[in-house]
Amino acid sequence: MGDTRRQWAIELRDVHKVFVTDNSRVEALAGISLRIQRGEFVSMIGPSGCGKTSLMRVVGDLETPSAGAIRVLGKMPEAARRERLVGFVFQNPSLLAWRTVKENVRLPAEVFGDAEVVGRVAEMIDMVGLAGFEHAYPRELSGGMQSRVAIARVLTFRPAVLLMDEPFGALDEITREKMQIELLRIWQATGSAILFITHSISEALLLSDRVVVMSARPGRIVDDLAVGFPRPRENALRADPRFVAMEARLRAQLEG
Ligand SMILES: Nc1ncnc2c1ncn2[C@@H]1O[C@H](COP(=O)(O)OP(=O)(O)OP(=O)(O)O)[C@@H](O)[C@H]1O
Ligand SMILES: [Mg+2]
Repeated sequence: MGDTRRQWAIELRDVHKVFVTDNSRVEALAGISLRIQRGEFVSMIGPSGCGKTSLMRVVGDLETPSAGAIRVLGKMPEAARRERLVGFVFQNPSLLAWRTVKENVRLPAEVFGDAEVVGRVAEMIDMVGLAGFEHAYPRELSGGMQSRVAIARVLTFRPAVLLMDEPFGALDEITREKMQIELLRIWQATGSAILFITHSISEALLLSDRVVVMSARPGRIVDDLAVGFPRPRENALRADPRFVAMEARLRAQLEG
């Protein structure tokens, strides 16, 4: 995969992942091919245990694939991670309880010893709408605010590719809907490509340029739906008949 393919933020070609332990062999991914453009927002849905997190982990170099090729901005996952081109947000915001908002957001900057990243801490806190809470501790924040801290933290190093694994899974529905609109605003300001895993069909549709559907394990891609609604998108879109029709199609894919 040479220079001509550098335009893809993420490219997977026939990726397989098999987990082998002493007494079991689990085939998690069975030939995944997927291309995500720079700046594109792609959601992935699929039944529990189908391999979504595994896919994210091989893209982010937290696991190695058993077979197949992966490129992130034209580079091997290991190089992309080393160059900090990829950021992660997990379901659990994993904040340090003894550090304030500002100190949590500063953490990667401190780890990397990068003054430029440190310089962006205040700006990112502002971008996620937490100005005024710099000195609060995680226990003093709502779940949605904690998610914002995790998002601000990953944005400090301006990853061109953002991998988000059910980041709003623990939030109540109203907070979650607010966070979705907020994430769209942030995404449009940063221009990162986002691969977003969710169990919510409506969340996937509201956010994404494309929704990719995975089959039950071993995970294969069974649908790749373009979602062409104009942006910026608002919550009212959920009531649009075309939105409702797409929701029904995706639901049938998941059930079938
Ligand atoms: N480190 C591991 N060792 C062994 N098996 C694993 C490991 N990680 C994942 N698996 C297995 O791979 C399969 C896919 O798991 P994965 O976490 O990718 O699913 P998922 O689609 O993210 O599910 P969920 O929607 O519940 O988060 C499961 O059967 C799981 O048990
Ligand atoms: Mg998962």
